[in-house]
Amino acid sequence: MSSKPTELTITRPDDWHLHVRDGAALKAVLPYTSRQFARAIIMPNLKPPVRTVAEAAAYRQRILDAVPSTDRFEPLMTLYLTDNTSPEEIVKAKASGFVHAVKYYPAGATTNSDSGVTDIRKCDAVFDMMQAQDLPLLLHGEVTGDDVDVFDREKVFIDRHLAPLVKRFPNLRVVVEHATTRASVEFVREAHARVGCTITPQHLLHNRNAIFKGGIRPHYYCLPILKREEDRKALLDAATSGSPKFFLGTDSAPHTKNSKETCCGAAGCFSALHALELYATAFESVGKLDQLEGFASFFGADFYGLPRNQSQVTLKRETWTIPDELPFTESGLVPLHAGEALAWKMV
Ligand code: DOR
Ligand code: ZN
Repeated sequence: MSSKPTELTITRPDDWHLHVRDGAALKAVLPYTSRQFARAIIMPNLKPPVRTVAEAAAYRQRILDAVPSTDRFEPLMTLYLTDNTSPEEIVKAKASGFVHAVKYYPAGATTNSDSGVTDIRKCDAVFDMMQAQDLPLLLHGEVTGDDVDVFDREKVFIDRHLAPLVKRFPNLRVVVEHATTRASVEFVREAHARVGCTITPQHLLHNRNAIFKGGIRPHYYCLPILKREEDRKALLDAATSGSPKFFLGTDSAPHTKNSKETCCGAAGCFSALHALELYATAFESVGKLDQLEGFASFFGADFYGLPRNQSQVTLKRETWTIPDELPFTESGLVPLHAGEALAWKMV
């Protein structure tokens, strides 16, 4: 009974939160995702952001053009919510069949969020329409501004904005994206069934000590920032619990090595290379590998009302070393855990 499995075959997973950028960067990173995942919810925080169905259609085509001919991959598009998004655009989005959600960034909260929402109340007419159309709202749930400590921004967002929002729009489907705190886990658990939650590999594997271990480590810097060990444990407990409210979303967010390793480094961890192996490592650390398939391959599809995938992927217990750097654009791309050993490998 105690012998460790040497292989794990599960239904092909989907990534419910992914950044793939555009242009040369898109071409460089997309094949990593299409190798592991059948579908991914594509974040719209390009420059300029993807605000309309027409822009999403064009971006979708550029993504499809970047899929290697050996892979089958479906990009699930999102719109970037602004103060000026109209309810009519929501109707169009739902009718398109390829826009699956709307992303809320508080203005100034993170990478390319300048056009984000300045006051959540400004979007009530849009939320009303999303609720009527059953189009999910994906939340970057952090307050902005210097009055709130960077480690408390998610918790304060729940109290100030998320709890009231869920009350105001009881039928709105909401995803608390990249949850990082015990408070978020508790909120999602207690909320109704239309509230879901994605969790990244870095937040399952690390607490905030990782950012400062022996010096400052920019490749562990993402937003929302890593939190305390008690938060990591709560996230791991939720992810491995078998609750359908919690599902896989890597938030893999590629930035050049130069823009990470600098005096004002960009936020984001790149995990598309080895996402499934990282999640397997986290699940195995608490003896819950048997819960990986639900989290990675079933619960997100069920939440979004999409069919579960039919094909499978296999992970093998095989130790390999994560590359120090991958080819990218004007400088390289440093993956999460670069140079370290990983005990699982997708075949
Ligand atoms: O760390 C992050 N990187 N958090 C985000 O919210 C955005 C993302 C990015 O686009 O780089
Ligand atoms: Zn993200």
